[in-house]
Amino acid sequence: MKAIVYEKYGPPEVLELKNVEKPIPKDNEVLIRIYATTVTAEDPKQRGFTFPPLFWLPTGILFGFRKPRKTILGFELAGEVESSGKSVKRFKKGDHVFGYTGLSFGAYAEYKCMPEDGLLAFKPANITYEEAAAAPNGALSALVYLRNKGNIQNGEKVLIYGASGSVGTFAVQLAKYFGAEVTGVCSTANLELVKSLGADKVIDYTKEDFTQCGETYDIIFDTVGKSSFSQSKSSLNQNGRYLLTHFGLTDIFQMLWTSLIGNKKVIGTAANFSWKLEDLNLLKELYEAGKIKSVIDRLYPLEETVEAHKYVETGHKKGNVVISLEHNNNLTS
Ligand SMILES: NC(=O)c1ccc[n+]([C@@H]2O[C@H](COP(=O)([O-])OP(=O)(O)OC[C@H]3O[C@@H](n4cnc5c(N)ncnc54)[C@H](OP(=O)(O)O)[C@@H]3O)[C@@H](O)[C@H]2O)c1
Repeated sequence: MKAIVYEKYGPPEVLELKNVEKPIPKDNEVLIRIYATTVTAEDPKQRGFTFPPLFWLPTGILFGFRKPRKTILGFELAGEVESSGKSVKRFKKGDHVFGYTGLSFGAYAEYKCMPEDGLLAFKPANITYEEAAAAPNGALSALVYLRNKGNIQNGEKVLIYGASGSVGTFAVQLAKYFGAEVTGVCSTANLELVKSLGADKVIDYTKEDFTQCGETYDIIFDTVGKSSFSQSKSSLNQNGRYLLTHFGLTDIFQMLWTSLIGNKKVIGTAANFSWKLEDLNLLKELYEAGKIKSVIDRLYPLEETVEAHKYVETGHKKGNVVISLEHNNNLTS
């Protein structure tokens, strides 16, 4: 099968199109013919092994210090079950699925095996494979942050900082789904996009500083790590939660400190350790009910994964960047 392989850490050019052996499903696994995968904001960090000092040791232990142990990247996929192991009950040949491969990576390829009890669900019937592949990482992160960590409540005022990214576009929609009054912060070019996702108000970060606008919020969710708690604190209501997906040592100190003292909390987590199959199924329902949609910025063929990485590395993608693999099926079925 065709796959994008990297055998050393480095710039986008370390990613090479190769023919590799097609995987064979174990008894508890399904073999998925992948129709779409994505380049998330995490992928270039993984490819270049450019993790902040704090994460260098654990990620090196997990993935290899000198060269990657898993040579095919790719967390998210959507496709069709081609075959299954003999003990598999939940899926059968021909099922349309979407999911998250987690630490086994491997979605930059034509095929991937996943355990039937992994983060794999039936694809929402009303969206394309490309839209489905774009869902797990951004939407599950937004869901875990807002619901599990932020304890979002109906009627609360929520500010999403970085509202035009993958996590941000889902966070705006999910915060609306939970009944919040939502303000999205993004640049001029993305104001209309963020409004179209349901934000009640938008703030252009190139023109205005939200901490100087005089408004206060129950939740400030910084999805891109570009604000700071010390500056945002006065924009939080009593019992306000400052959520952040991207954090360093100072933030971790603030998380510990605010967990003990004061009524404004700083909260960060490795959200993917909290993802559950029932939440992936919830996303399916939300897509089918028209409550959420995937924002796709660019589509690339598998052969142009290097270009996709270069673009994602700019840090300015709108929503998601998808790798579309050739297939003959109707996209929406
Ligand atoms: N902790 C976790 O569990 C977890 C889970 C998922 C993701 N993450 C991390 O969270 C971060 C965001 O992920 P993502 O996939 O949402 O990223 P992304 O899609 O790459 O974010 C890109 C967006 O960020 C916006 N942006 C860039 N600079 C900004 C600024 N100064 N102010 C406001 N917006 C700005 C860009 O808008 P403009 O072009 O308009 O600037 C762009 O739309 C990444 O670092 C990722 O690794 C962590």
